Amino acid sequence: MCGIVGVLGDHEAAPILVEALKRLEYRGYDSAGIATVHDGILDRRRAVGKLVNLSDLLVHDSLRGKAGIGHTRWATHGAPTVVNAHPHQAGPVAVVHNGIIENFRDLRQEVAAAGMSFVTETDTETVALLTQIYMEAGLGPVAAARKTLSRLEGAFALAFLFQGEDDLIFAARKGSPLAIGHGDGEMYVGSDAIALAPLTDRITYLDEGDSAVLTRTSLEIRNADGDLANRPLKQIQLDQARIDKGGHKHFMAKEIAEQPTVIGEAIDHYLSRDGARVVLPEPGLDFAKIDRLTMVACGTAYYACVTAKYWFEQVAGIPVDVDIASEFRYREPPIPARTAALFVSQSGETADTLAALRYCQGKAAGIVSVVNVPESSIARESDLALPILAGTEIGVASTKAFTCQLTVLLMLALKAASDRGVLEDAALADRLSALRALPGVLNVALERETEIAEVAARLAEARDILFLGRGLMYPLALEGALKLKEISYIHAEAYASGELKHGPIALIDKSVPIVVLAPRDALFDKSVSNMQEVMARNGKVLLITDAAGAKEGGEGAWQIIRLPATDPILTPILYALPAQLLAYHTAIAKGTDVDQPRNLAKSVTVE
Ligand code: G6P
Repeated sequence: MCGIVGVLGDHEAAPILVEALKRLEYRGYDSAGIATVHDGILDRRRAVGKLVNLSDLLVHDSLRGKAGIGHTRWATHGAPTVVNAHPHQAGPVAVVHNGIIENFRDLRQEVAAAGMSFVTETDTETVALLTQIYMEAGLGPVAAARKTLSRLEGAFALAFLFQGEDDLIFAARKGSPLAIGHGDGEMYVGSDAIALAPLTDRITYLDEGDSAVLTRTSLEIRNADGDLANRPLKQIQLDQARIDKGGHKHFMAKEIAEQPTVIGEAIDHYLSRDGARVVLPEPGLDFAKIDRLTMVACGTAYYACVTAKYWFEQVAGIPVDVDIASEFRYREPPIPARTAALFVSQSGETADTLAALRYCQGKAAGIVSVVNVPESSIARESDLALPILAGTEIGVASTKAFTCQLTVLLMLALKAASDRGVLEDAALADRLSALRALPGVLNVALERETEIAEVAARLAEARDILFLGRGLMYPLALEGALKLKEISYIHAEAYASGELKHGPIALIDKSVPIVVLAPRDALFDKSVSNMQEVMARNGKVLLITDAAGAKEGGEGAWQIIRLPATDPILTPILYALPAQLLAYHTAIAKGTDVDQPRNLAKSVTVE
């Protein structure tokens, strides 16, 4: 959360910083700000709300200078006000920060005792004030910033800019990612390489605990012990199209529509040439040597894990524990021998998931991650990182990353079944061939969009909506409810259909629509019975099923959305599409901000 950027360039910094912040806005949009040094003078501009407000401000009140830092904020400490917006300045230093300074209360007292006064409610201001104190005590800017760093506890990525220094940025990371970009006679820093994409594709990633001194022509990195460190300069392949909506009204719409293509690419990536086996990158993973899986993630990625539990257990016979990362990391769960730990994360930077991964290092018989960003911390700290190849996802509500996660996890479960000898070669080949046909089936599902939009316009009037599903449809019901509440702000909850009668059925009356996800599979009759229980209590059922399901169980339903029939194992991927479209069109009908819903951020790098 929060995006930071810095530039030491040959051109005016303000427009470059704003452009880079646009690429980081997925990290938060409570406020934005920039600071520059011009003729030795440190100055800043800040505005509440989205980046466009800062751009507007800069039109009337420009900021000159070729050296600058910028920030887009997801508020942790202090309300989203101009005063609390970054960069925070104290005398000769300005700071932008991503993360949380956990000992800021102690530091605040110390700084107050030194006679300094606070103007903000943020944890970050203490960083600026401490640096000012050290500079006033005689330390140079870098030494002062380093001394400040040594006092900080918590997670942070920081960039400092100093009065009188128009060829210097000091940056540091602990717990939050930071990338340095190399230009020709220019140097940049950003929360990720994508922010720097229009500027350079030559990137050096800081390691945990690193700090860096940047000038236009030099970069000096030191590790946590203060020793000079050599970090590789990498040529990064970046998806330049990432801020292009490709003719769609929203990134989310574009990303929903892209799913058949990106899922097809993910399938091809992991298929052997003859299409009969699943092939993993080196060092691979032999599931014959694994007795158990522990899967950990947050948000939508967590629901991908819950789905995968059904696959791994039913198809491969491996017991699976699934956990929310923020719970897992502090519970100190025992990790039995021959347990592989698997982490799923779109960004690869989610603080809780990364901490859970680190907990498992040295305990699990292998750390595997399923990520969208191959250069991310989670990928880099895994024994085996499996890219989902979804391409850059901008919409805060995850769509194509979810279905690509599912695709890779399903292929992993099929490989596990084959490794463990519970799936014959011929059966594996059959399953893989059904999977190869999936993108075509998904295209047919996307053709239901107009119909789904009509239903969504009616759902938009509801105050509460329930989602029900059984078996593989239960985690999808959870994801459908999450999607809907994230972007339409309608209260939605999901239950396993069989659990309804143990409480939630009390909520049902004619004002509560119930979305039932029920392909005509082995559990269909049971789902229909649960649906009948709902309808008997005047519940308005929106049934999402296939033609056979509609015929056999659709009587009495308020609305029916018919999807193509497919191999039951593939239904979570297929049924994700109408769930996403339903949320999208409900949000459109309500007029909410689909791509940047209130209070959310796409990359959650704080606890
Ligand atoms: C945030 C995002 C969600 C995402 C979750 C986990 O809450 O808004 O879309 O599912 O973080 O993120 P990750 O990057 O680890 O998948």
